Amino acid sequence: MPGLLDGPLDHSIVKRAREKGIAEIHVHDIRDWSTDKHRKVDDYPFGGDAGMVLQVQPVHDAIAELCSRRHYDEIIYTSPDGELLTQRVANALSLRENVMILCGHYKGVDHRVREHLVTREISIGDYVLTGGELAACVLCDAVIRLLPGALGDETSALTDSFQDGLLAPPVYTRPAEFNGWHVPGVLLSGNHAAIVAWQEEQARERTRRLRPGLLAGEEITQESNTL
Ligand code: ADE
Repeated sequence: MPGLLDGPLDHSIVKRAREKGIAEIHVHDIRDWSTDKHRKVDDYPFGGDAGMVLQVQPVHDAIAELCSRRHYDEIIYTSPDGELLTQRVANALSLRENVMILCGHYKGVDHRVREHLVTREISIGDYVLTGGELAACVLCDAVIRLLPGALGDETSALTDSFQDGLLAPPVYTRPAEFNGWHVPGVLLSGNHAAIVAWQEEQARERTRRLRPGLLAGEEITQESNTL
């Protein structure tokens, strides 16, 4: 359902990156490769189960045609059984030239697509979405914001949570007091070294309290993320 991608990929940083020519996104409708007169691309699963399965032929033909136009470094299938999307995965993908994302389908895709056509499967978390489109948007956003020039302040992606394996420290803006709630005094001190030390301590303390696994060098994995 390509329409689902329109909103998220046409706003904010992703929109600006596209306008500045930093990223190109081409959305394709797999139905364009259907050989069916009604442009059908799914069918009942063999073995009789509920739900429809995306067929191998239109997916194969779409991938073959797109690959004849340009080289793809990765052909990613979005699926809850994929490798978990982490900052490390996003960083690595941001160094790639061309990435194709095949959005999963409600009940799934003919397994031959996964065996023979895709190079990688990525999940955005341990929950099931209706389709892979929203996962593809999350992936695009996480990767595109890392491209040089995509963020206004070039350094700000470096200070994101997870970039140094820690959660980001808290941030505040004016006014310095609201409703009797005060901004920590050190941030108003003008003492740059003290501010940096405070931010580092806060990042460490928040990570220890909220995500101790990150300090142990673990990434979020299926096992460490159980409630
Ligand atoms: N498709 C359905 N659920 C998904 C998930 N959690 N991650 C990626 N793709 C999906």
